[in-house]
Parts: sequence; structure tokens; C-alpha cells
Amino acid sequence: MSMEIRTAIPKDASTIIDMVRMGIEEKAFHNRVVSVEGFLEYAFHNRGKGFNLFVCEIGDEIVGYMDSQMGRWGVGEISGVYVKPEHRKEGVGRALMKKTLDQFTLNNCHKARLEVFAENKGAVEYYNRLGFFQEGYFQNDEDRRDVIVVSKFLE
Ligand SMILES: CC(C)(COP(=O)(O)OP(=O)(O)OC[C@H]1O[C@@H](n2cnc3c(N)ncnc32)[C@H](O)[C@@H]1OP(=O)(O)O)[C@@H](O)C(=O)NCCC(=O)NCCS
Repeated sequence: MSMEIRTAIPKDASTIIDMVRMGIEEKAFHNRVVSVEGFLEYAFHNRGKGFNLFVCEIGDEIVGYMDSQMGRWGVGEISGVYVKPEHRKEGVGRALMKKTLDQFTLNNCHKARLEVFAENKGAVEYYNRLGFFQEGYFQNDEDRRDVIVVSKFLE
């Protein structure tokens, strides 16, 4: 079945929220309460200029998402990426990243950056494979966990 990356619409919110909650359970994301209203506000109603939320669909199922924010000074920040466990290692994360980085480049970003918990070895390897390099390491940081900053230059 073919894979499609598209911009999320409000109808996708509950599926994306389910993925955010799974990411929290997997300890890949910060532990927080995620409400439908709060997410709709963040992703659709109060979104800043340069905000992107992409979903990946296989058939009619949303299997992953990535959200990001382009900064004013040429650095794009990736806030979250999640792929449903049964669709991992199929190239979904790579496709979401390509779409996001293409969008950054189109908007004159020269660099992409994000934070990942150091203990999330799978995600750290995923970023390595996609050409990101470690730029910072913060010990006992957010949530008292080690955090790695990884970046990729886009030129
Ligand atoms: C990290 C994540 C997004 C990867 O998504 P994915 O769709 O499985 O990634 P892809 O299939 O596109 O893989 C891209 C590359 O990364 C590698 N990779 C992906 N997950 C990996 C893992 N757990 N361990 C080692 N390598 C991994 C793949 O082998 C592939 O490399 P290759 O193309 O050189 O063979 C997914 O595992 C996930 O959603 N994890 C839970 C949420 C999370 O940790 N998010 C990041 C928070 S900062």
C-alpha cells in the first residue's frame, strides 16, 4: 500500500493525540496531560507562523506524525515524531523527516534541531541514520533525565 505524507487537519486530532499518549507511555515524550481542546489550540487555532504538523497515511490509516516550528533565524525545531509500533522500520519516520526538512529548506532554514532523551536509544539511532549529529548533552535535565540536542545542517 502506498504511503502519503500530508498536512494534518483538525479531523486527525484524536488519532494524533492517541499517538502522543503512546509516546508518553513509552517515555519517549515528556509526561503531561494531553487534552483534545489543548491539542486543537496548539495545532490548529493558536499555531504560530512556521508551524508544521504532518501525518503519514498508509491506506486510510494514520500511522505516524511529526510536528515542527520554523524559527525566525533559520533554525527549524522538530517538536515531536511518533510512528505506531506496528509500522516502525518501514520508512515512515524517514518520510516524515524528509517532508519536514524540505519545508524548512523551502523557507530558508539552514539548520534543523531537536531534543531527545538520551535513554531513547532507538530514536537516537534513527536521528543518526538521518544525518543528525550530537550538538549538546545535558545531564539530569528535563524531568531529571539526560537530554541530547541533535542537529542537521540543511545546505
Ligand atoms: C523513532 C521513530 C520515530 C522511528 O520511526 P521509523 O518509522 O521506525 O523510522 P524509519 O523506518 O524511517 O527508519 C529510518 C532509519 O532509522 C533506523 N531506525 C529507526 N528506528 C530504529 C531503532 N529503534 N533502532 C535502530 N535504528 C532505527 C532505521 O533502521 C532506518 O535506518 P536505515 O534507513 O539506514 O536502514 C519510531 O521508532 C518512534 O515513533 N518511536 C517512539 C517515539 C519516539 O521515540 N520519538 C522520538 C522522540 S524525540
